[in-house]
Amino acid sequence: MAAPVARRADFLMALAYATDLATGHSRDFALRSCVLAMRIADVARLDEQTRRNVYHQALLRYIGCNADTHLLAAAFGDEIALRRDLQRIDIGNKPELAEVLVRAITRTFADAPPAEIARAVERGMAEAMQVSVPILSGHCEVAQRIAERIGLSDEIRENLGQLYERWDGKGLPRGLLGNAVKLPVRLVTLAQDAIALMEAHGFETMKEMIARRAGGAYEPELADLFLKHAEQLFEGLDGPVDRETILALEPIPHAEFDETACEEAYLALADMIDMRMPHTFGHSRAVAALAGAAGARMGLPVSDIRAARWAAYTHDIGELAIPVSTWMRAGTLTERETDAARLHPYHGERALAALGGEGKAVAALVLRHHERLDGSGYHRYAKAQDLSPAARILAAAETFQTAREARPYRAALSDAAAAAKLRSAARDGKFCPDAVEAVLACAGQPARRETAERLAGLTPREIEVLRLIAAGHTAKEAARLLDIAPKTADNHIQNLYSKIGVTTRAAAALYALERGLVQQQISAA
Ligand SMILES: [Fe+2]
Ligand SMILES: [Fe+2]
Repeated sequence: MAAPVARRADFLMALAYATDLATGHSRDFALRSCVLAMRIADVARLDEQTRRNVYHQALLRYIGCNADTHLLAAAFGDEIALRRDLQRIDIGNKPELAEVLVRAITRTFADAPPAEIARAVERGMAEAMQVSVPILSGHCEVAQRIAERIGLSDEIRENLGQLYERWDGKGLPRGLLGNAVKLPVRLVTLAQDAIALMEAHGFETMKEMIARRAGGAYEPELADLFLKHAEQLFEGLDGPVDRETILALEPIPHAEFDETACEEAYLALADMIDMRMPHTFGHSRAVAALAGAAGARMGLPVSDIRAARWAAYTHDIGELAIPVSTWMRAGTLTERETDAARLHPYHGERALAALGGEGKAVAALVLRHHERLDGSGYHRYAKAQDLSPAARILAAAETFQTAREARPYRAALSDAAAAAKLRSAARDGKFCPDAVEAVLACAGQPARRETAERLAGLTPREIEVLRLIAAGHTAKEAARLLDIAPKTADNHIQNLYSKIGVTTRAAAALYALERGLVQQQISAA
């Protein structure tokens, strides 16, 4: 078996971060719920197998919730605000549920005349049950499919299929009753509600509400046990949760991913991100195909091509923080919405920060995917020297692909028109002309001019050597790091010096710096 390159739990955390954004939960909500649920599991002395199921249910409960988001948005407007409101009520309580739905519809039609609002409320309430059962069933099935793709067990998948079921049979879509709802499901629902209620109402009121709902939403014995130990269970749970805590909580054996499994996990993330509305379906896969092919065409090292592809799969993960209803409104964004939208690369980098090893390079690319060479991009206004060849390729591939897809507020451009637009932006100094030509060639567009297909004709190995010596490593060290003979490293250095037209390490370092081959830590603002 190939060597492990990542803990599976790291991907679970990235998924958890993404679903927290999409569902309007607070920062680290799923992670905190995982800690709380595992503590409850300890107090209840649950066996190892059940603890494993609880761990995954807490982190992944909402991974299917992106399916059909456009339908939810069409019926109720800002679906993230709606989801936030729903977390705080007892969904089995019809008047409470009706109040939240009416509030959501009223918010959407805030500027309309009263008669129109009344009509919208009437229509929305009539549709509520009609749309909710298929939507919630879709969430369950999508969650199960994503879980399958990242190699989770049948039991974990079965639990994910019950995420909206309740003890009293008033859950959806199947209305399972009592013990027919699996124990990990019952436990995690209680833990997540407790956190959401505490955030909304404080610790004491949360306890009262949990006690009131015992026998309804929650199994009475489980609610009693929780209430008896509530202080101890919540200790230190009010701040962020770090990666090590979640890694340490994973029941043994710890699952690890080799490169193939990582590729599939990144792909699963891509599909999960893109399924929020029909307009973005397949977007990340298409960007990845273009970026990967263009990287190979430009002769980048294999690790750079892989990072570009994985970054392309996940580049818009931060867009989950923006309600789909905002995109679907088909008008211009308000200033506040624009600010929120421009922060999606930041959220993306944060979501992927947990991924150790190569995840860092992927996160660095995601952070930069809307940056432009002349500093006119967002959100950091990075410039050329901060944009590696892989970052330049990703930006060009993303822009080209987006232009040829339709959005609610504009039609799709033809491939030729999208290519012309990208070339014009490259002439304006925003995109790297070599990266643009490589992407367009890979998209089957006829070449417009002779372009250097490789960076000064450097081979992938020479780029790796250049990067190391520019970072201050000696030829000997570079040889050791790349596992090649010192003599071979020397040859590479002589060859690359002549290709880029320099004779000193300092000038080679400057060349590398100017082309984004050496980068500062992404955490440095
Ligand atoms: Fe995108
Ligand atoms: Fe984006």
